[in-house]
Amino acid sequence: MTVISVIIGSTREGRFSDQPANWIAHHLRQRDGVETRLLDLRDFPMPFFDQPVSPAMPGRAPYSNEVVQKWTAEIAKADGFIFVTPEYNYGPPAVLKNALDWVYPEWNRKAAAFVSYGGAAGVRSVQQLRQTATELQLAAVRSSVHIPVATLWAHFTGGDVGAGLAELSGPAETMIDDLLWWTAALRTARASA
Ligand SMILES: Cc1cc2nc3c(=O)[nH]c(=O)nc-3n(C[C@H](O)[C@H](O)[C@H](O)COP(=O)(O)O)c2cc1C
Repeated sequence: MTVISVIIGSTREGRFSDQPANWIAHHLRQRDGVETRLLDLRDFPMPFFDQPVSPAMPGRAPYSNEVVQKWTAEIAKADGFIFVTPEYNYGPPAVLKNALDWVYPEWNRKAAAFVSYGGAAGVRSVQQLRQTATELQLAAVRSSVHIPVATLWAHFTGGDVGAGLAELSGPAETMIDDLLWWTAALRTARASA
């Protein structure tokens, strides 16, 4: 079974993030052979990264923080990821960047895709995340889903968020096709390495 984890990138009170996360997880759950896991950063309240040694340091001791250990174990279980991210000041939220920074080998040589939103559909946040993914040895797939501001606005005004998301089912399926192709290729390559 291929494991894809959907990461909810905002922890803010009144956030929008869990709605697109549940929506894309629903699309993933229609696929055979995929176990979909939803990782909510609210369930992983990690401190800001404060260790003397980088997670990328070969042979380092595991970090002692229990939440970090739980988070790292979740990342280790997954073969691929969908990051659901807003845009905060042209980039991803600090809570998401911090969650990325705490882990290294468990991200390596796996595939990643992005669902984004914001005033400008979150595209600048995804651009930054693509750069971070390169350093984490995560293969960021070409296709992504950028939710138009009208759908985000519906969240704040009591409008029909579901209808807005439903219009994006085409791009969602394309992105999932792309993610699963890369996930399968990298899984095979990891197993034979
Ligand atoms: C601190 C902060 C900075 C923001 N900066 C941007 C931005 O640079 N570009 C943008 O399009 N939207 C920006 N926004 C709007 C958010 O994308 C929007 O509020 C979104 O709902 C936040 O996601 P969330 O509700 O899941 O936390 C910002 C919001 C906050 C709270």
